[in-house]
Amino acid sequence: RRVAILLSGGGSNMVALARSMTGDHPARPVLVLSNDPNAGGLTKARDLGLPTAAIDHRPFGRDRTGFEEALLAAMAPHAPDLVCLAGFMRILTPRFVGAWAGRMLNIHPSLLPLYPGLHTHARALANGDAEHGCTVHEVTEELDHGPLLGQARVPVLPGDTPDTLAARVLGQEHRLYPAVLRRYAAGDRTPVRLP
Ligand code: GRF
Repeated sequence: RRVAILLSGGGSNMVALARSMTGDHPARPVLVLSNDPNAGGLTKARDLGLPTAAIDHRPFGRDRTGFEEALLAAMAPHAPDLVCLAGFMRILTPRFVGAWAGRMLNIHPSLLPLYPGLHTHARALANGDAEHGCTVHEVTEELDHGPLLGQARVPVLPGDTPDTLAARVLGQEHRLYPAVLRRYAAGDRTPVRLP
């Protein structure tokens, strides 16, 4: 399988995914694409020798379709057949999602269906949750929903702040996403549950 990884920020999930696709892994990264030309993840991708592209979403304003057409044009030369959203912070329209139905994954820093949307760690702390975690799911039209492909759990510890909790979750994201991708790229949608 030919994987395009879409990111908006530092790209630590992209690094984990790219490093996992070696040997007999059924997938290879073919493009790292960002909506922010200055995303740190683009530098990391170049350091890994991966093809990169950036489509700044800002000039498109509210023209989501125009932005997505530019994304698709940037992707086309690399002929991806699987998209991994990895810290990609733009909402995709049903048109784009529909075109990639069954071939697009996302990682979200909560135990979905708990806490779709933003500020998941602060919300888990505010609710006094004893545990938290991350979820990989297939992307569907409904934001942060879609068939669950894997989850990893972390304890919430006394004195945790959103930042300390986020760091603990991120460490599990880097284990979960590669495990899910390896299984999913081989055609197996059995959910991954990390110990
Ligand atoms: C992190 O908050 C992570 O939980 C979420 O996207 C953010 C950036 O991750 N998936 P990354 O380092 O850019 O992969």
